[in-house]
Amino acid sequence: MTFPVLEGKVAIVTGAAMGMGEATAKLFAAAKAKVVVADFNEEKGQAVVEAIRAEGGESAFVKVDISKTEEVQAMVKFAVDTYGQLDVAVNNAALTPDDKPAAEFDEAYWHRLMSVDLTGTALCMKYELQQMLKQGKGGSIINISSVSGFRPQPNNIAYVAAKHGVVGMTKVAAMENGPHNIRVNTVAPGAIDTPMLRGALDQFGFTAEEYAPQLSLLNRFGQPNEIAQASLWLASDASSYVTGTTIHADAGYTSR
Ligand SMILES: NC(=O)c1ccc[n+]([C@@H]2O[C@H](COP(=O)([O-])OP(=O)(O)OC[C@H]3O[C@@H](n4cnc5c(N)ncnc54)[C@H](O)[C@@H]3O)[C@@H](O)[C@H]2O)c1
Repeated sequence: MTFPVLEGKVAIVTGAAMGMGEATAKLFAAAKAKVVVADFNEEKGQAVVEAIRAEGGESAFVKVDISKTEEVQAMVKFAVDTYGQLDVAVNNAALTPDDKPAAEFDEAYWHRLMSVDLTGTALCMKYELQQMLKQGKGGSIINISSVSGFRPQPNNIAYVAAKHGVVGMTKVAAMENGPHNIRVNTVAPGAIDTPMLRGALDQFGFTAEEYAPQLSLLNRFGQPNEIAQASLWLASDASSYVTGTTIHADAGYTSR
């Protein structure tokens, strides 16, 4: 392995305009990857690119709605046109969880969430894999699931179903593409202090202090950078014998 660990690699990070995606894009750039910040929030995404460039990193923004095939194809093409190749992808973009019990779930939101969190993640993986297969020199794909990919949460039937699905599709892609040295893994974050988590706390009327001990053996929420570090390891050659698995970056939540 060489240092900095992503030198010479080109990475796409979806949902990189804020939260964990932003932290991941910044960390990857600090590790010397050329980073494509992909998001449908253009203003915030551009601001992330500017922040990376201000630190001497290489980055470019592409506007994408990951639920749309043509936009996902264009995202991969943008990475290749801009930086010549694609070596790493973190499929992180997702919608805020739903908020109704199973007996009353909102069908319109079910379809919307599935189109992003499940189908959108699958579309990203599909076109990233095609590019990596074409290049013929391997790659690393990291799909972001959740503790909700392993444990039920009340009132989150669509989100829990989608995040379980992300774990399954990751294993299929790992199995199919291992012979091409394309590694596909999942990171399953616990409760991480991002706009998405703050939104969920507001929705259920909890304070961070009340809720953190229920979700973390460390009695605190995680920081976005702590999840980015897990993705960095999977993206780098340090994890060269790791595929088809999940890193549970959840402060022990799923260990109980
Ligand atoms: N925050 C948590 O506690 C937590 C816990 C477990 C898993 N996760 C997962 O981690 C990932 C990141 O979560 P976060 O809290 O940083 O989220 P966030 O809401 O802070 O950021 C999500 C980003 O994705 C973008 N996005 C949403 N839909 C998109 C689409 N269709 N196309 C392109 N971009 C889109 C948004 O614009 C935003 O920039 C998600 O997959 C989420 O499900 C979050």
